[in-house]
Amino acid sequence: MRLDEILRSVDTLPAMGGAALQVLALIEDSRASASQIEAALRQDPGITGNLLRLANSAYFGIPARIGSVRQAVSLLGLRRVTQMVVAACAAAVLQRPVEGYDLPAGELWRHSLAVSVAAEGLVGEIGIGAGEEIFTAALLHDVGKVVLGRFVREELARIEAALARGLTFEQAETAALGVDHASVGAELLSRWAIPADIVFAVRWHHDPDRAPASHPMLDVVHVANVLCRMIGIGLGREGLQTEPSISVSRRLGVGTGHLERVASRTLQWANDLAQALAA
Ligand SMILES: [Fe+2]
Ligand SMILES: [Fe+2]
Repeated sequence: MRLDEILRSVDTLPAMGGAALQVLALIEDSRASASQIEAALRQDPGITGNLLRLANSAYFGIPARIGSVRQAVSLLGLRRVTQMVVAACAAAVLQRPVEGYDLPAGELWRHSLAVSVAAEGLVGEIGIGAGEEIFTAALLHDVGKVVLGRFVREELARIEAALARGLTFEQAETAALGVDHASVGAELLSRWAIPADIVFAVRWHHDPDRAPASHPMLDVVHVANVLCRMIGIGLGREGLQTEPSISVSRRLGVGTGHLERVASRTLQWANDLAQALAA
């Protein structure tokens, strides 16, 4: 059992920048203003640059050129801008190659962006309220892989033996390591003071049927992740998956037609965002 060692290594992972944490704290504060966000970002010009590139990306579809944080807040709203700050900060962590999972540099990032836009696409398609932080939850759902990758590589033989016995990838992680990337990710995010419903969605994204409660944000992240694995974005060692949980699909009222429509646009949406941050 290497759980302790794995959780200890969570502490050594560079946390998201202080700017992201300050802005996240502002989400919960209904009196937060554009100038507070600006002040939090002032200490990190790189993040402000990324934020403005995202705000001007085709995905968000604002025709005017956005040149300042204040303008971004007034055109896109505080919540949208907060999500962009998290994305700008998470990019640094998620763009790295992830050993063990067989994900070259940029691949986990591409997958994470794709799941985010698919999640928003699903919410639009089926017309449900899943919480405004759905983009952030989807973006961060696999962050545990960044921590667990080294351990997966070290125990690859045991993981492959478990997969050969018919276990899913997450079950194989648990069999070999005592934890899966979903629980490690949730642990990491709770240390970053990320809101509890996001942590919950990350924790159960592979296993919504075993979650202690149902939550639309979890359901949508689960389906969006499966959707991206159906169309093959950022698979790595996890491989293809063909079907979301039946009870989740029922709860959301999501059918094949919805999945097909969202899938057909996901790649383009994800490319728009990836290009904005690569600029
Ligand atoms: Fe995952
Ligand atoms: Fe995923």
